[in-house]
Amino acid sequence: MLTAYDYPTALALDECGLDLVLVGDSMGEVELGMDSTKGVTLAMMAHHVAAVDRGLGKTHLVADMTLGSDATIQTAVVNAKTLREAGADSVKLEGAKIPQVEAIIAAGVPVMGHVGLLPQTAEVYRKHGKTAEEADQIVRDAVALDEAGCYCIVIEAVVADVATRVTEAVSAPTIGIAAGAQTDGQVLVSTDLVGQLPEPPPFVTPRANVRQIVIDSGKAFVAEVRGSE
Ligand code: KIV
Repeated sequence: MLTAYDYPTALALDECGLDLVLVGDSMGEVELGMDSTKGVTLAMMAHHVAAVDRGLGKTHLVADMTLGSDATIQTAVVNAKTLREAGADSVKLEGAKIPQVEAIIAAGVPVMGHVGLLPQTAEVYRKHGKTAEEADQIVRDAVALDEAGCYCIVIEAVVADVATRVTEAVSAPTIGIAAGAQTDGQVLVSTDLVGQLPEPPPFVTPRANVRQIVIDSGKAFVAEVRGSE
């Protein structure tokens, strides 16, 4: 799974053989220049989901429920349906909000779970599952999400051994990010993967340097236009 936030990226990622494309609320940080995911609203999410949906022909589109949009069962169902109407095939919720997950699935929208680091509520981004208590809680949350019917579970920034425990404990496929190699799948933020921002996180090896391509193209344009003055 990779993230996309716009039409051209979606058009390109649709050619890659991915199982899933995620319109993540990481867009707040990597696409909109905010300092966290907390400022992303459901309206922003729906706007970007619609753009990505226009670019995807065959790949499943999963959209993040934004901070507060799943606060109650009723708002969660209404907002999940809004994202579905915008073009999402499924939604992703952070944390073990079991009543919301069950209600959204009952309303006909498939749900992806998300355990470990939960950026919407985290004060700092850190590795999770280092203590036995925290590790056990992550496994319990994942099992509860699995039993509630999640079709897939993201494990973010979790000690590799704990991510392996989760993968063995649940029947749904797991997708890891900074959680070791033993999950069923992996997810990355596409802007990190293609080197679009100055400082990718340490666990990502960028496959390209799109930032440099944009700089070089911009400079070549400026030189050409100035040269012809
Ligand atoms: O918002 C996002 O991009 C995510 C991934 C890091 C899983 O939730």
